[in-house]
Amino acid sequence: MINCVLSPSLLSANFVFLGHELGELEKAGVKWLHLDVMDGVFVPNITFGAPLIRSIRKACPLFFDVHLMIDRPDAYLEDFAAAGADLLTTHIEALTHPQRTLARIRELGIKAGISLNPGTGFERLKWLLPWVDLILIMGVNPGFSGQPFIAETVGKTRACRRFLTDEGYPDTPIEVDGGVSLLNIKTLIEAGADALVSGSAFFGSGDRALSYKKFNEIAEQARVNTDRGFERLKMWKRNQ
Ligand code: DX5
Ligand code: ZN
Repeated sequence: MINCVLSPSLLSANFVFLGHELGELEKAGVKWLHLDVMDGVFVPNITFGAPLIRSIRKACPLFFDVHLMIDRPDAYLEDFAAAGADLLTTHIEALTHPQRTLARIRELGIKAGISLNPGTGFERLKWLLPWVDLILIMGVNPGFSGQPFIAETVGKTRACRRFLTDEGYPDTPIEVDGGVSLLNIKTLIEAGADALVSGSAFFGSGDRALSYKKFNEIAEQARVNTDRGFERLKMWKRNQ
């Protein structure tokens, strides 16, 4: 039984052959594509922005999981929605009025995610839950692919899952991003993750189809009592 969505992070793909990479992911059966937008201010790295997403949107039917690691994201929500984001995730640490941001993203007709750095507690989300479509828990400090996984993320995911149940939002999906590999996906799914992002571990081997198969094989070994969060993700479709 599929109990988790794998969202490969484009940042670790080979940009010289971007079109080919997208085709390989699609052929492998991948459904989501994680797009890491960094501005050199919120995080110490610069990647790409809405123009690149707009270009690949024309050639790629995958569900675009756009992760904004930028300061003042409110100024760019329309741009990213128009560029083709299906899920737009902002960082709570970058927001002054998070409820306004989340509601605005939904108004744009796409899903609203909210992300937490490793040092940020999920309790901050308590009064925002009605406007949150997905919680993204960082397994590393954002900025770079290939960093080691912070082991405390497993306990944080488990506690966040319990928090969501206690608050009456048991089917809000949790995504974990950063340091995800074949070594920790089973534990993360069992802790309550419904979506997993992978950059370096997924793209490390040359064969995208093999990576996807291996991730899913291990994901399927996870024992889950509930797949409610995942059931919700399965209904999410690309915003045409
Ligand atoms: C980190 C990014 C991640 C990263 C994942 O700031 O948000 O999405 O690209 O890469 P790995 O899986 O290599 O940690
Ligand atoms: Zn990311």
